[in-house]
Amino acid sequence: MKTVLWDYLRLIENLYQRSVSYWCREMEAKDIIPAFVSEIKGFLAQDEGLRLFELALEACSLGPCLEIGSFCGKSTVYLGTACKLKRRTLFTIDHHRGSEEQQPGQLYFDPDLFDSETGLIDSFPYFRNTIERAGLGDVVVPIVTKSSVAARDWMTPLGLIFIDGGHSYETVLTDYQCWHPHLLPDGFLIFHDIYLNPAMGGQAPYEVYKLALSSGIFEELPMTNTLGVLRRYKTVMVKE
Ligand SMILES: C[S@@+](CC[C@H](N)C(=O)[O-])C[C@H]1O[C@@H](n2cnc3c(N)ncnc32)[C@H](O)[C@@H]1O
Repeated sequence: MKTVLWDYLRLIENLYQRSVSYWCREMEAKDIIPAFVSEIKGFLAQDEGLRLFELALEACSLGPCLEIGSFCGKSTVYLGTACKLKRRTLFTIDHHRGSEEQQPGQLYFDPDLFDSETGLIDSFPYFRNTIERAGLGDVVVPIVTKSSVAARDWMTPLGLIFIDGGHSYETVLTDYQCWHPHLLPDGFLIFHDIYLNPAMGGQAPYEVYKLALSSGIFEELPMTNTLGVLRRYKTVMVKE
């Protein structure tokens, strides 16, 4: 009796997932994503967001998704909307104190995010508001700390990892080293701000992207704008 009930529930879940996939194919992704996404402070272009949404939809069949660097939640809305449709969790990691370039006096400093009482950047209230507005309260699990601290006791295999935290070489490398071992076979490892031309932007994410590629455990997929997309091979060939 228990087995029959279990099979029945699995069948219903399967039918639900198929109808979600069908519905997503029929509708344009941009009609599913909340329209206010364009108003959220952030650094993600629309084509990059839509690609994140599509990759997350696919990755959710494998496991939960994780992003490093949420800021005010722009990328979170794209990833989280896919996770919501697929009834998956999106873990988000950000200390919400801003990257080097977002500090007072730096190029991307935003006075709206400056807490004059503490003298620190605090993007968490904006992030929280975004998640509530997007109806992602039961989807997104915010982890408010440094990426390396969150990784310390991490045990959950992941279907997608999006790296968009600090942009110094050491930080991107740490994010890669801490998190890529948790990626499931067939899962996606995605880097933001990949500039093939050094004149267009900082090279640290691209250097780490190339390092990941040279490991032989990832397949390179087409880029979208500055989004570099790697997919973990299902099986890894060991060189003799
Ligand atoms: C470029 S912003 C992320 C932009 C965001 N993905 C978007 O769509 O707008 C980088 C974020 O990474 C966070 N960050 C930087 N270094 C970090 C670290 N080591 N651990 C956790 N968060 C970090 C900063 O607080 C900042 O909010």
